[in-house]
Amino acid sequence: MNILLLGSGGREHALAWKIAASPLLTKLWCAPGNAGIAKDADCVALDMADHAAVIAFCRANAVDFVVVGPDAPIAAGIVDDLGAAGIKAFGPTKAAGQLESSKSFTKALCRANAIPTAAYEHFTDAEAAKAYVRAQGAPIVVKADGLAAGKGVVVAMTLADALAAVDMMFGGGFGEAGAEVVVEEFMRGEEASFFALCDGEHALPLATAQDHKRAFDGDTGPNTGGMGAYSPAPVMTEALCAQVMDEMIRPTLRALAAMGTPYKGVLYAGVMVTAQGPRLVEYNARFGDPECQVLMLRMMSDIVPALLASADGQLKNFSLRWYDNVALTVIMATKGYPGDYGKGSVIAGLNEAAACEGVEIFHAGTKADGDRVLANGGRVLNICATGKTVKEAQRRAYAAVDRVRWPEGFCRRDIGWRAVEREEHP
Ligand code: AMP
Ligand code: GLY
Repeated sequence: MNILLLGSGGREHALAWKIAASPLLTKLWCAPGNAGIAKDADCVALDMADHAAVIAFCRANAVDFVVVGPDAPIAAGIVDDLGAAGIKAFGPTKAAGQLESSKSFTKALCRANAIPTAAYEHFTDAEAAKAYVRAQGAPIVVKADGLAAGKGVVVAMTLADALAAVDMMFGGGFGEAGAEVVVEEFMRGEEASFFALCDGEHALPLATAQDHKRAFDGDTGPNTGGMGAYSPAPVMTEALCAQVMDEMIRPTLRALAAMGTPYKGVLYAGVMVTAQGPRLVEYNARFGDPECQVLMLRMMSDIVPALLASADGQLKNFSLRWYDNVALTVIMATKGYPGDYGKGSVIAGLNEAAACEGVEIFHAGTKADGDRVLANGGRVLNICATGKTVKEAQRRAYAAVDRVRWPEGFCRRDIGWRAVEREEHP
């Protein structure tokens, strides 16, 4: 089978690595890919936003199946356009993908289907939003309605911050994404990521993970796309996972099917484990990055039949096997991220790092320059390791991090701290 993977991040390198291990695979391309993906796939300079070019490439190369990594092509309807051209793709349609691309769509769906989430109101003008913020008081959460690269959320601890966030969003701070704003109740608890594979009707739970969204140690600094993750997330007990399936995932699939826009692909629920039980923070219509990296390291089964079963509506009696091991990943980012940063610095020591026990390195923003690897983005490397415990996976990952010679990079030194604390003080 010929497969085209779309994307260029650490998530896509992990997917490429896992797909490349499938005995069903004849040939794998990745567009646009990165220096690490180039070891598992043929990287092609295709613009994902140009759907006609993607379709032409698929036809010219007899691509049987397209796997979509990031959210932007899903929101742009690439799965719809490929389908119309007779090309099978993994991922939701544009309409079903609104679970991620429109926060107000998801909040309304939750309200209509009694899915537990934060109370909220939706606004199209600043004055009404500010009146609501004043009436509710802080802490309170202000969100741009559209896609803002994971950065469209302000968790305001004071009224002044909340009012400033409303003005910033309606003032165009997030561009079009902020033309409409959702204001919601602040939820207290521990956050985890829950993933389920869906085929329009059935859902197969995959695994849990915990991300680290803040830039610096001790969960301080600005929000990022994610600075590290591990799987499984011990806070998500079996009982809580069953609750998430029954109270969130299945009602969501039923609702979308009833609307005539069944959801296929991976459904990623950001869950807050509160004193009142699990509540939905948000849905994403794709794998998490960096959560995907740790999921792929734990998946024992071939991923390709699972992705095909999702696209074909055949998940009913499907199952997947997983390793019991813990997987953990530390993100190395260019200094300055998530703000401004430079590109083109040289990264050395990657082979020595990759040789460490239990270690796998996935590239994100990298570019090959002859034999050299150059930094080419904010999040640049995923140094991953597996182990019997979080502590062991963490020790192995940081042993590899210490072999990477890249003065322009930085990472958090405490990825996994919550789970390590649980291991040490059960
Ligand atoms: P989102 O893009 O919706 O995932 O929001 C980004 C981050 O903001 C989440 O991962 C949470 O850490 C935090 N957050 C979002 N909504 C809430 C909420 N209602 N209560 C508390 N924290 C929230
Ligand atoms: N790691 C968070 C995300 O992928 O949205």
